[in-house]
Amino acid sequence: MTPKRFLLTLFALSGALHSPPLPVLFAGDQGYREIAEKHFSVPDTFDIEYPDDLEPSEEVVELGSMLFFDNRLSFNESQSCATCHNPDHGLSDGIRFSLGATGKPVERNTPHLYNLAWNQVFFWDGRAASLEEQALAPIEAEAEMNMPIDILVDRLKSISGYREVFEKAYGDDSITPDRIAAALASFQREIIVDNTPFDSYLNGNDNAISLAAKRGMALFVDKAACIKCHDGANFTDNSFHNIGLKSEDIGRKAIVDIPILNKAFKVPGLRNILFSAPYMHDGSIGTLEEVVRFYNRGGDDTENISSLIKPLHLNEDEIRDLVAFLGAINKPLEIPRPNLPEPNSIKFVTKK
Ligand code: HEC
Ligand code: HEC
Repeated sequence: MTPKRFLLTLFALSGALHSPPLPVLFAGDQGYREIAEKHFSVPDTFDIEYPDDLEPSEEVVELGSMLFFDNRLSFNESQSCATCHNPDHGLSDGIRFSLGATGKPVERNTPHLYNLAWNQVFFWDGRAASLEEQALAPIEAEAEMNMPIDILVDRLKSISGYREVFEKAYGDDSITPDRIAAALASFQREIIVDNTPFDSYLNGNDNAISLAAKRGMALFVDKAACIKCHDGANFTDNSFHNIGLKSEDIGRKAIVDIPILNKAFKVPGLRNILFSAPYMHDGSIGTLEEVVRFYNRGGDDTENISSLIKPLHLNEDEIRDLVAFLGAINKPLEIPRPNLPEPNSIKFVTKK
């Protein structure tokens, strides 16, 4: 915990002990600002932890962006990371289950990739501990890009343009799985949303968000208590919970076999969440309003559900306000598509 977070936590605790609950509905602008300052913050790029404490060079990030957008990373050259994590669809693809390179659907909904630089667990079940560790998995997964890594390395070596960009990025033209993973991770760490209307509000502009969004912010903290899990500048505390979706997927329990983790999934960050519908690991909820209604009724399947999920008794106005708040933490992000290294002709290799 940063010293600032620690202090805020102390404030929050002493507030809870000594003062009556805030009269949220009647809080004036100053009341909302106090809530905002106590509970929320703009993501701090100084807090990003890079592997070996080394911020990557622009050249490594550029290489990562080329790899991210290049269909040649899939065996039959039919898809890139951006096919499923499409910048025009909130770094997801707008459908419940994306199709892999062989045309079969994947088993979970494609998550967005915003502000993962601060994230500590990756995949819905948290089975990867870093972006570097995560990066090669979708390339090799048969259900996704279906590309054995040694064949990818040979393919990239056969493209003179890639040999040049690897040399620019790393000082020599050796192409290795580690370098591919590091470049992809470095590119993804640069996908940062920190200038939403809510951030301008946090920076002091009282008029940056609507009154409805301010009321929604108070509900997010208080009556709806979303912040119990969606905490911190990126709205995730990196923990796992079963929120009561009707789904057969056992989630985190497949990784850590204890009963409380049955059907528990990673708490996703909520910045730019407007753009990456449908929602949840099973893509079962289509809109943010439906998400709020789902929490309001206390989930759909109560078996092994988190004790933090209970009916919220929000009325229709409060539901609208909470949705208005979720609408204030978005800002479309321009992610330019790079020119891809040439030549583009690939000798088609057969898979063993
Ligand atoms: C066929 C669609 C598809 C392709 C192609 C794809 N992904 Fe994914 N991605 C997914 C799905 C589905 C998940 C969630 C899987 C899970 O949690 O079990 C995921 C999860 C992730 C995550 C974890 C995000 C989080 O919040 O934990 C990252 C990071 C990621 N992908 C990056 C990439 C990169 C980099 C590539 C290209 C090398 C890529 N993906 C290619 C569908 C895809
Ligand atoms: C007990 C912890 C917890 C609480 C409380 C909670 N959430 Fe969540 N939230 C999660 C988890 C875990 C997921 C992913 C669940 C899954 O896919 O199985 C999630 C998913 C979401 C998603 C979908 C994100 C995506 O990328 O698909 C949204 C939106 C969301 N929550 C908003 C809210 C709001 C609004 C509230 C308050 C009404 C709230 N959450 C309360 C833990 C929580």
